[in-house]
Amino acid sequence: MSTPQWHRRHLLSLADLEPWEYEIILQTSASFAEVLSRPTPKVPTLQGRVVAMLFFEASTRTRNSFELAAKRLSADTLNFSPGTSALNKGETILDTAKTLLAMNTNLLVIRHQYSGVPQQIAQECDRLGTGAGVINAGDGQHEHPTQALLDLFTLCSHHPARPPSLTALQGCKIAIVGDILHSRVARSNIYSLRAAGATVHLAGPPTLVPRAWQELGVAIHWELAPALKDAHFVMALRLQKERMHQHFLPSLREYHREYGLTRERLSLCQPGVKLLHPGPANRGVELTSDIIDDPELSLVSQQVSNGVAVRMAVLYLLSTAKIKG
Ligand code: NCD
Repeated sequence: MSTPQWHRRHLLSLADLEPWEYEIILQTSASFAEVLSRPTPKVPTLQGRVVAMLFFEASTRTRNSFELAAKRLSADTLNFSPGTSALNKGETILDTAKTLLAMNTNLLVIRHQYSGVPQQIAQECDRLGTGAGVINAGDGQHEHPTQALLDLFTLCSHHPARPPSLTALQGCKIAIVGDILHSRVARSNIYSLRAAGATVHLAGPPTLVPRAWQELGVAIHWELAPALKDAHFVMALRLQKERMHQHFLPSLREYHREYGLTRERLSLCQPGVKLLHPGPANRGVELTSDIIDDPELSLVSQQVSNGVAVRMAVLYLLSTAKIKG
């Protein structure tokens, strides 16, 4: 049987990604990780293509990671900052996107505080027949597909099997701890980790870990211990205060006392447990500094490094997609 070919022009959500698509992303990311390890970590693959970054919300890692990924592939990049753009003069987001498309932009990387904005722009690209692709770089509380893909690549790469494959996570227990309610990272990770056959346990206060998330095929815990017990990997999430429009917690100190990850608490996990965090981390709140800085325990810097290779893979695959019909 021949390997199916990548056929998506946009990456908006992981909800309907098939296992074979994850495998293509993992394999392509591994090839680009090898490129990044060379003395000259650059290839001409996307020479002449234009990648525009439209970040309507704050970002350090994701924005720089996409920009570096595009540059490592020799694409030209355009950077849009809402504060200094024509949005200030009353232009709509769709008109901003159309302006960039009229400059023959091939890929739009979009982050927005409202869920659904990347989808809307993707629909407009299709309606206009531009052939441009859209990547969701985080939309509101909805999804953050490339963060989950780089987490997946990091988790699978941790397994001795080479090249990294989804099968590495079959039967693994993964605990995701913190503010699930406001987290686009949690939702995208649940889709990818479930597709990999991992068991996903969510933990946090009832106000931030709604029972309804069970419908995604995960276990819910309002106490930390059962989620951490025998976990192979623990992913910490930040309290996303910028998205909290009510009081969800008595205090940060109280939160840390009940749900903060510490070395002692991680001793409930499997020996050799590894810690992940998408960043930015609030030290002393969702976890202690000593564990995030411990290279034996923490995969955080691998997540950031792998992010560039994974985003190169996504930019490459979307640019070369064989669109059906
Ligand atoms: C996350 C995000 O923006 O959703 N960060 C990231 O992209 N690395 C998580 C967060 O903001 O807490």
